[in-house]
Order: sequence, then structure tokens, then C-alpha cells
Amino acid sequence: MTSIFEGTLIRLRAREPEDAPLLYRWFNDTEVTRHLAMRYPLSMKSERDFIERVSAPGYAHAGFAVETLAESRLIGGVDLLNTTPECRCASLGIAIGDKTAWDGGYGTDTMRTVCRFGFEMMNLHRIELEVYAENQRARHVYEKVGFVVEGRRRDALFKYGRYQDVLVMSLLEGELQVEQRQ
Ligand SMILES: CC(C)(COP(=O)(O)OP(=O)(O)OC[C@H]1O[C@@H](n2cnc3c(N)ncnc32)[C@H](O)[C@@H]1OP(=O)(O)O)[C@@H](O)C(=O)NCCC(=O)NCCS
Repeated sequence: MTSIFEGTLIRLRAREPEDAPLLYRWFNDTEVTRHLAMRYPLSMKSERDFIERVSAPGYAHAGFAVETLAESRLIGGVDLLNTTPECRCASLGIAIGDKTAWDGGYGTDTMRTVCRFGFEMMNLHRIELEVYAENQRARHVYEKVGFVVEGRRRDALFKYGRYQDVLVMSLLEGELQVEQRQ
């Protein structure tokens, strides 16, 4: 049986202190953060503090580093957080910070792997996320794995001199779309 932490291209693991330099580089790169909430420069200390805070994944915050299966190369991170046990609901955030890995299938595989973990290991019923309307790549990935748009927060984001809408999407247990094999 393959590991619950592994997809077809990626493996989820806990974040480690040694990950800080790469995260520092990615999250100070405006191409990476363009569709993320970040807007101010991040210090190395804030990256180290973040890793320390989230490096013991648990129910309240299941945070993971994402690495390639082929080379065990760190390419990003994904988090299930703000978990509400009464509603069995969590919020999801993902960033494939290594731009050279974009459009290589890693984001899709990460979404499937972390959602499967949420449903099968954390007994979640609902996983929700927010995505900026202009983030076409992310929207495509989320819809591909089964997320549906359930709301639009009009002009909720102001960045780069203009407003844009923020979409609310969710996935319920049983709705995860697994890879279609040819
Ligand atoms: C969004 C993100 C997670 C996607 O990960 P990824 O590894 O690039 O995604 P994948 O390679 O699995 O899939 C990308 C898909 O988007 C498609 N795509 C790329 N650009 C697109 C665009 N402008 N419009 C529509 N679809 C697009 C690709 O064709 C591919 O679809 P396909 O596999 O059906 O052909 C990743 O690019 C990322 O982290 N970006 C920076 C941070 C970010 O935006 N995070 C999400 C915040 S909500």
C-alpha cells in the first residue's frame, strides 16, 4: 500500500528548520506572492518563526512541506488550518513556491493528496478555500480536483492598484476527483 502522504508526484512531510532559506526566497518573490495574501517583505526571522509554529502538524493546523517523489526536492507547502471539530471543516492554503515546478502537475497532485489526508485521516467533512478571481491557474486546479465555487466576495482584495473579487470554493467528503487514468 502506498503511503497516505504520497501522491503520484509528491510527498507531504513536516516542515523542517532547514526549509527556511527556500521559503524566504519564494515568499519574497512577487511572482510567487502575486496571488497570495502576502504584500510586505518577509524577514528570515519571520520565516523561521512560521516554521517553528507549524512544524508539528496536528488537527488544528496540519501544515506540510511538499517535495517531489522523484528527487525529494522541496517545491512548496500546503496547510489545512482553522479546523472546526463541530463542523468537521478546515481551510486550505497552498503554494508551490518553486516556479520551475509550475504546470508540472505538482499542484494538482498536492491538492488531491492533502484533501485525501483531510478526509481519511482527520475525518473532515468539508474543506474550503479562497482564491483571487484573477488566479486562473489555481482556479483550474481546484475545479479539476472537485472544488466548486459557492460565493464571490466582490472587490474583497486590493493589490497592485486595483480591486478584484475573491472566490470562495469548497469540497465535501466524497467529492474529491481522483486522477483519470487513460
Ligand atoms: C496555483 C498552483 C498551486 C498550481 O500548481 P501547479 O503545480 O502549477 O499546477 P498543475 O501543474 O498541477 O496544474 C496547472 C493547471 O493549470 C492550467 N493553467 C496554467 N495556467 C493557466 C491559466 N492562465 N488559465 C487556466 N489554466 C491554466 C494548466 O494547463 C494545468 O492544467 P491541466 O493539468 O489540466 O493542463 C501553483 O502554481 C502555485 O502555488 N502558484 C503560486 C501561489 C498560488 O497562486 N497559490 C494558490 C493561492 S489560492
